[in-house]
Amino acid sequence: MSHFPYQDGVMHAEGTPLPAIAEQFGTPTYVYSKAALLENFDSYANACSGREALVCYAMKANSNLAILDILARRGAGFDIVSGGELLRVLAAGGDPAKVIFSGVGKSVAEMRLALSHDILCFNVESIPELHRLNDVAAEMGKTARVSLRVNPNVDAKTHPYIATGLKANKFGVAFDDALATYRTAASLPHLEVAGIDCHIGSQLLDDAPLLEALDKLIELIDTLGHEGIVLHHLDIGGGLGICYGEAGEAAPVAVADYLGRLFEKIDAWRAARYDGAPIKVIFEPGRSIVGNVGVLLTRIEYLKPGATKNFCVVDAAMNDLMRPALYQAWMGVQSVTPRVGNAENYDVVGPVCESGDWLAHDRVLSAHAGDLLAIMSAGAYGMTMSSNYNTRGRAAEIMVDGDQVHVIRQRENPADLFALESLIK
Ligand code: LLP
Repeated sequence: MSHFPYQDGVMHAEGTPLPAIAEQFGTPTYVYSKAALLENFDSYANACSGREALVCYAMKANSNLAILDILARRGAGFDIVSGGELLRVLAAGGDPAKVIFSGVGKSVAEMRLALSHDILCFNVESIPELHRLNDVAAEMGKTARVSLRVNPNVDAKTHPYIATGLKANKFGVAFDDALATYRTAASLPHLEVAGIDCHIGSQLLDDAPLLEALDKLIELIDTLGHEGIVLHHLDIGGGLGICYGEAGEAAPVAVADYLGRLFEKIDAWRAARYDGAPIKVIFEPGRSIVGNVGVLLTRIEYLKPGATKNFCVVDAAMNDLMRPALYQAWMGVQSVTPRVGNAENYDVVGPVCESGDWLAHDRVLSAHAGDLLAIMSAGAYGMTMSSNYNTRGRAAEIMVDGDQVHVIRQRENPADLFALESLIK
C-alpha cells in the first residue's frame, strides 16, 4: 500500500494533504511517512524473528534524529561510517552496543570515540587499520571487537558508482588476502576477532549476487575455523534495492524472500558443519528501509519553453537531491494535484547554476507555474547528500504520522550557512 496516496485528486502523505504541508512549511521540503518507515523496518525484523540477528540500519541513507529514534525504539542497531554518525545515534537515544562502524578511513579520534562507547564491532578494511585500531585500544586499555570487510569479488550488476564488491573497488580486503589478514588480526593483543562482513553494492534488484557473496563468506568462515579462528557473526551488508517507478524497471526482490533464502542457506550450512549451532547474522540495509518513505515536495517557479526542449524550473535543485546529477538516477515526478490537458514534455530542473542541475529528464506533465510536484522515493540518499551549493539553505524535513505533522528539521536560513565564517581582521 502506498503511504503517499491520492485522495480527492490530491496527493497525501498518509492522511495529510501535501498542499497543506507546503502552505505551512514552504518548499522544497522532504516529507516522510512514519508508517512506511515502520513497515519497511518490520519487514526485516519479522523475517529475523526467533533468530540471533541484528538489523543495523545504514544511517548514511537518512540520518535525521527522528528517524534514528523511531528505528532505535523498534530494536534497530546502526551501521555508521563516521564519528559524527555515532554522535547522532547517541543523540537519538540509540544503543552503542548495537553499532557497527564501517568505512575505509577511520581516524584515530573516531576510533577513540567509538571505543569509549563500547560499540559492537569495527568493520575493518585493511591491515594498517588493524594496527591503528590495536594501538588506539592499547592506549585506552581496551579490546576492540573486529570483523573484516571481505571483498568477495562478486559483480553486483548495479551502477558503477554504487558497486563496491569488485576487485577494482577501494573497499574491503581482497578475498585472497583475507586469511592472512585474519591471522594478523588474531595476533594483535588488543583486538578480538568477532566476525566477517561484506557489502557488495547498492540498489540490487536481484538477490543472486548477495547469495553468491554469502557462499564466499561461508567458505572463509570454515577455513578460518580450521585454523582456530572462530567467528561469531556474519554480516552480509545492505544493498537491497527499491522500486523507483521507471518504465520497464525490474522489481526488486522482496525483503522476506531474500532473507528467507539467505537463512535457508545458513541453516543448511550450520546443520551440515556445526551440528546446527547458529551464527549471529547482521544486516546493514539503508535504502530498503527509508527509500520509499519520503518524497521531496517542490513548487514550480517557471515554465520555460526552450528551442529544443521545455524546462520546468522548480524550487528544489541538485543541492537538495543530488542523485540525478551524480548517478543519472531516475526519480519519479508526480503532480501533487494532477490537472487534465495541456500536457507537455519537460526537463525538471532547479535554480542552481550548473547544466547538471536537473531532477528529471523528459517527463510529460500538465503543469502550471505555482503547482506542486513530488519527487518520489527520495527518502534515501536525498537529505543526507544535500549541500549548500549556491548558498541555498537545506530543505526542511517533516514526518507525517497519520494526520499529525512533525517538523523533524527546520529549514536552514542563509545566515546559518555563513555563521561559522569570519572576516580577516
Ligand atoms: N553498508 C555499507 C558498508 C555501505 O557502504 C552501504 C552503502 C550500506 C551498508 C547501505 O546500502 P543500501 O542498503 O542503502 O544499498 N548514494 C548512493 C548509494 C551509496 C551507497 C553507499 N553505501 C545512491 O544514492 O544511490
